[in-house]
Amino acid sequence: MLRRTSIPQPPTQDKRWKIIETTMRRNDFQPQALIESLHSVQQAFGFLDTSAMKWVAAALSVPLSQVYGVATFYHFFTLKPQGEHTCVVCLGTACYIKGSQKLLDEVGRLYSVKEGQTTKDGRLSLLVARCIGACGLAPVAVVDGQVLAKSTGAHLIETIESKIERKQAV
Ligand code: FES
Repeated sequence: MLRRTSIPQPPTQDKRWKIIETTMRRNDFQPQALIESLHSVQQAFGFLDTSAMKWVAAALSVPLSQVYGVATFYHFFTLKPQGEHTCVVCLGTACYIKGSQKLLDEVGRLYSVKEGQTTKDGRLSLLVARCIGACGLAPVAVVDGQVLAKSTGAHLIETIESKIERKQAV
């Protein structure tokens, strides 16, 4: 069997794509790795967007329609956060030890939203990831794609607020 050595560029420079690439590489980029790879995306980003699904499809040489089929069949996959803004808190071991559960609880309490859900006004989705590959920066949270290193509750909430205000000002 021919081993695949290169795959298409990931959608962005985000380091989290490396985790998904590692999952696919471990499976020799075989199509059977589809569900595991999508899990990896969901764990790193909190949801599966179109660019992620396209990339996984190309890297595993499976039709995009098949990726959509799998992503929409299983209820544990989310295709997009429903809120205008997204806060992903990493609960991987390193982040957990450094107090990420507290961050999650703080955001949840302030915005009255549970993990995996969106606020009633649709402004914020609160998602959880299991290691986004930046353990040295623990605890890590990602707000609208912006990675916050060594995050504190105050800084995290300040960042969420600034994103919400900026959007309202536009
Ligand atoms: S455990 Fe959070 S980035 Fe690795």
